[in-house]
Amino acid sequence: MTGALPTGVPAIEAVDVSRTYELDGVSVPALRGVSLTIDPGEYVAVIGPSGSGKSTLMHLLGGLDRPSGGRLVIGGRDVTTLSAPELATLRNRTIGFVFQAFHLLPRTSAVDNVALPLVYRGIGARQRRDRAAAMLGRVGLGHRLDHRPNQLSGGEQQRVAIARALVTDPAVLLADEPTGNLDTGTGEAVLELLEQLNAESGVALVMVTHDQEVAARARRRIAVRDGLIRSDTFHDRPLSGGDGGPATLDPAPSAEPRSASGSGPGHPSGGSGGAAGATGRLPRTSGGPERAPGPRPDAETGSGGAG
Ligand SMILES: Nc1ncnc2c1ncn2[C@@H]1O[C@H](COP(=O)(O)OP(=O)(O)OP(=O)(O)O)[C@@H](O)[C@H]1O
Ligand SMILES: [Mg+2]
Repeated sequence: MTGALPTGVPAIEAVDVSRTYELDGVSVPALRGVSLTIDPGEYVAVIGPSGSGKSTLMHLLGGLDRPSGGRLVIGGRDVTTLSAPELATLRNRTIGFVFQAFHLLPRTSAVDNVALPLVYRGIGARQRRDRAAAMLGRVGLGHRLDHRPNQLSGGEQQRVAIARALVTDPAVLLADEPTGNLDTGTGEAVLELLEQLNAESGVALVMVTHDQEVAARARRRIAVRDGLIRSDTFHDRPLSGGDGGPATLDPAPSAEPRSASGSGPGHPSGGSGGAAGATGRLPRTSGGPERAPGPRPDAETGSGGAG
C-alpha cells in the first residue's frame, strides 16, 4: 500500500519549513524551521511538550495547511506550486489522517463514513461500499457497518476513523494523539492495530503521542520543542526492551533531506477537488450537509481534512 507515490520518492520531504500564525496582529511562530524526510513504510513517533508545534507540523506534513516558509514536498510534489484543489487531490491520494477526537460524521453510518473519501475519487456507490466494508473488516468492524458513531464505543469509533484514513490506500498515515481519548486498554488495542497496518500494508505511520512508552515502540522518534526538531533518532530496539539505546543522538535531524523530483507524474483528478477525509463537500443527508466536528473545512485547512 503505497498510494500514488512515484517510485523512489520520499513520501514527504520538509526543508526548513516554518509556520507563523497571525493572531490579532500578533505573530505566533509555531514552527521555526523544520527539516525531515518521511520514507514509505516508516514508523515515526513525534513527541514534545504541549504547544511545541506537533499538531502544526502534522497539518503541514499532510497538506492541510501551507508553510509560511521553506520547502514542502508531498508525494513528489512541491505544495507551493499547487492550487487549493490540486493540494486537496494530492492529500486524498497520498495522506490519511486520524485525530484524537475521531471526527466522524455523527449522522452517517460507519460504512458511509469510511466510503466518503472515495466519493472524491469518482468511484461508483457500489464499489465505494464494497471497499469501505472490506476496510472495516480489516479493522475488526465487519459486523458494525450500519452503526452510527453514537452507537459505537470510543475504540470502535477510532477504528472507523482509521478505516476511513486507509480506504484510499495512502502512502502515509498521520495520527495526532490517536489514543488520547481512549482508556488504556482500548488505546493499546488501537495502537496495535495501527502498528499491524503499518507492518502489513507498508503505509508509513507518523504518530504524535504524549506517552513516552508509546513513543518507545516506534523505530524512529522525533522530539519537537519550541517549534524546532530537537532530536530525530532511529532505534534498533524499542526503549522498553532494555539497553537498546538510540542509534544516533544528534541534536539535528538525522534524516538527510533528499532531492525529490518537483514534478512527478501527473495526477489526473479522479474527483472534484478530492479529500483525504470527512470534511469539505459532503454528500447530503436528510438534514442537509453534515459536517464532522474538527478542523475548519475551508479551502486551505480542511477540505481534505479529517482523514
Ligand atoms: N490557529 C492558530 N492560531 C494561532 N496560534 C496557534 C494556532 N494553532 C496553534 N497555535 C499556536 O502554535 C503553537 C503550537 O501549537 P500546536 O497545536 O502545534 O502544539 P502541540 O505541540 O500540538 O500541542 P498539544 O500537545 O497541546 O496538542 C502554540 O503556541 C499554539 O498556541
Ligand atoms: Mg496538538
